[in-house]
Amino acid sequence: MTEPQHILVTGGAGFIGSHAVDVLMRLGHCVTVFDNLSTGYLANLEQWEANPRFRFIHADIAADLTDAFNRAVLGFGRITRIAHFAAQTAVPLSMDDPVADIGANVTGLVRVLEYARRNKVAKVFFASSSAIYDDDAPVPVSETSSARPSSPYGINKLTGEFYLDYYARLNGLTFTALRFMNVYGPRQDPKSWYSGVISIFLDRAVTGQPITIFDDGEQTRDFVYVTDVAEAVTHALLTGAGHNAVINIGTGVEVTINTLARTILSLAGSASPVRHEPARAGDIRRSVTTMDQAEALLAFRPRVNLQAGLQATLTWLRQEKSRAPSRSGSAA
Ligand SMILES: NC(=O)c1ccc[n+]([C@@H]2O[C@H](COP(=O)([O-])OP(=O)(O)OC[C@H]3O[C@@H](n4cnc5c(N)ncnc54)[C@H](O)[C@@H]3O)[C@@H](O)[C@H]2O)c1
Repeated sequence: MTEPQHILVTGGAGFIGSHAVDVLMRLGHCVTVFDNLSTGYLANLEQWEANPRFRFIHADIAADLTDAFNRAVLGFGRITRIAHFAAQTAVPLSMDDPVADIGANVTGLVRVLEYARRNKVAKVFFASSSAIYDDDAPVPVSETSSARPSSPYGINKLTGEFYLDYYARLNGLTFTALRFMNVYGPRQDPKSWYSGVISIFLDRAVTGQPITIFDDGEQTRDFVYVTDVAEAVTHALLTGAGHNAVINIGTGVEVTINTLARTILSLAGSASPVRHEPARAGDIRRSVTTMDQAEALLAFRPRVNLQAGLQATLTWLRQEKSRAPSRSGSAA
């Protein structure tokens, strides 16, 4: 695609969304970000702040977005594509307050889809999750594995996929939904209680604090590097690839938490002690995806292996710590 597009990225100040913004901006598109900065940071977008093709609008997707959409169109004209990342992303919070989770994770998506329908947006990307799968589904999970979410967060992601299918069938909307496995990389917030295991382990290794492994550490996850995810998202968003499809995005590589901890300690040259605590309720034992659909529909093959991704994340974390106040841009 050569023609510049006006692309709306909801949740673009967040971890994954900001990497998608980077790709879209580098490709020469105009990008508007809607974000309420609840877990995102303006610092994740500071590289584009002064660029005339970039605009940040403080907006809550659970609330009326009329004003935000009008301002976006005033800035760069008709919105042609939407990447929808904005969400309440903490699974435990969705259990504590399922009603609030619906606001951000279902109502927010439907607002975006209604806008897309009325304004003939060419394509919508939706950030879904492996949390939609049945914890007891045999691994590796594929897109046809049984969906039986164990949290309101997972229920709402699955509901989102049904909305996309409905809008596609009844209104001709074009979409791609990607079910992310465990995404990691620079800008994942280790300070967040709900952050991914990698950002927490790296932070603890670098600061010499103990690393806590729940259970025996032989539980597994499929860790996919954030720039690979951003490439998959932008490829689906900008082309006909993954047309009206729901696709798992991971690496197909199953890594135990013990191996992860050892690798991180060795890369960081850290002597942090490792402690084990009892398994947490709701933690699944094994998680890894098949790659068939991602390869067939998106030609997706992860480029960054775990070792290289961990090294890059470690380098970023050390830089962040040396310029500590930079994330004070958050309005969280
Ligand atoms: N990180 C992962 O491993 C992972 C796995 C599966 C799915 N996902 C999905 O990918 C998307 C991005 O996740 P992330 O890891 O980058 O999380 P993140 O918390 O860094 O990003 C979410 C962004 O959305 C914004 N946001 C939250 N609620 C909002 C609201 N009501 N209105 C406007 N903005 C709002 C936040 O401020 C933040 O910038 C989410 O939809 C998440 O559910 C992430």
